[in-house]
Amino acid sequence: MKRKLVSTFLSVAMAASLLVGCGGGSTAPASSDTQTETATETETATETTTETATEAESTEEATEAADTTSAGGGKVGVAMPTKDLQRWNQDGSNMEAQLKDAGYEVDLQYASNDIATQVSQIENMISSGAQVLVIASIDGDSLGTVLAQAKEANIPVIAYDRLIMNSDAVTYYATFDNYMVGTKQGEYIRDQLDLENADGPFNIEIFTGDPGDNNARFFYGGAMDVLRPFIDEGKLVVKSGQVEFDEVATANWATETAQSRMDAIISANYADGTKLDAVLCSNDSTALGATNSLEANYTGDWPIITGQDCDVANVKNMIAGKQSMSIFKDTRDLAAKTVEMVDAIMKGTDAPVNDTTTYDNGTGVIPSYLCEPVFADVNNYKELLIDSGYYTEADLQ
Ligand code: BGC
Repeated sequence: MKRKLVSTFLSVAMAASLLVGCGGGSTAPASSDTQTETATETETATETTTETATEAESTEEATEAADTTSAGGGKVGVAMPTKDLQRWNQDGSNMEAQLKDAGYEVDLQYASNDIATQVSQIENMISSGAQVLVIASIDGDSLGTVLAQAKEANIPVIAYDRLIMNSDAVTYYATFDNYMVGTKQGEYIRDQLDLENADGPFNIEIFTGDPGDNNARFFYGGAMDVLRPFIDEGKLVVKSGQVEFDEVATANWATETAQSRMDAIISANYADGTKLDAVLCSNDSTALGATNSLEANYTGDWPIITGQDCDVANVKNMIAGKQSMSIFKDTRDLAAKTVEMVDAIMKGTDAPVNDTTTYDNGTGVIPSYLCEPVFADVNNYKELLIDSGYYTEADLQ
């Protein structure tokens, strides 16, 4: 029965992912290194008890746990960074619903973007018998110690959306292709301004994310690989002079921080009517800050503004002509892929991975599954977001 439910769920998830781009190469075989690692982790998962870490060392109890596991159940700890941003609420509830559908018990926690809170939530998950941890980290570099405890207790860890750095306890990474998110944003600006052909110069300002989030460097890197040549030749001008990652990063991805930085940029560079042609924003929370500031302080022609996540407020801005595009990352697909990984770990089969080269977390490359991000704008949002059931019409009014 459980098997049937799981396989029905997987078929639905795979069909859904084919529609929105998370399905391609879904069962790409792992490299031999990965397979070795998978096998090791599989044994680990099977051996892990539902009791505490210390108790897990008892062979008798480990056998009991293996029985539980082979029955298809088990407890999964899901650590999410914050409820402040819409997407993590969706990620958390999708993960919880899909894991429960697949027969798992779920311990879902949000940490209010506070690193110490996230660490203690993970400690609790370990001590209360989680058999797999799924973690969207707040700061990728701050979980080394607690994940050493997970490793000690033979609990596999899946880094969710954001890579966890410098920890050898990370088994898999499930995410969207973060570099591709950035290139799509950069290409959008390149094409809209027709940078290949137009003379310019055009003015641009740049906003990326939190320095502790490994993704931010991929988003920034992808976009800048497209745009930097135009900056170097003078066709794109950053009047604030703020171009390098550390200058354009936004702590905690906070809307207010992006907004006040944009306030300062406008008053120093665009208050005299100078036209701002484009604002590269790595995601929707920073795009919202830039947009709020422009609405309050800028009188020129409206610039191109990029974003990511298709948050409700930003899709509304897109419809109102205040944000040009957003990258759509269907969190249902990422959750489905992550549940497949959990399921594979629990059942001792190969987890889906399609990238075994890109994401080195400082201890080696982490076998990853990269879902494909999609581009959304005012022309296709209905099909992508409403027809797919992600939002209702009413959500966007
Ligand atoms: C995610 C983005 C999100 C950002 C802020 C990143 O790690 O990949 O989708 O907008 O964090 O929460």
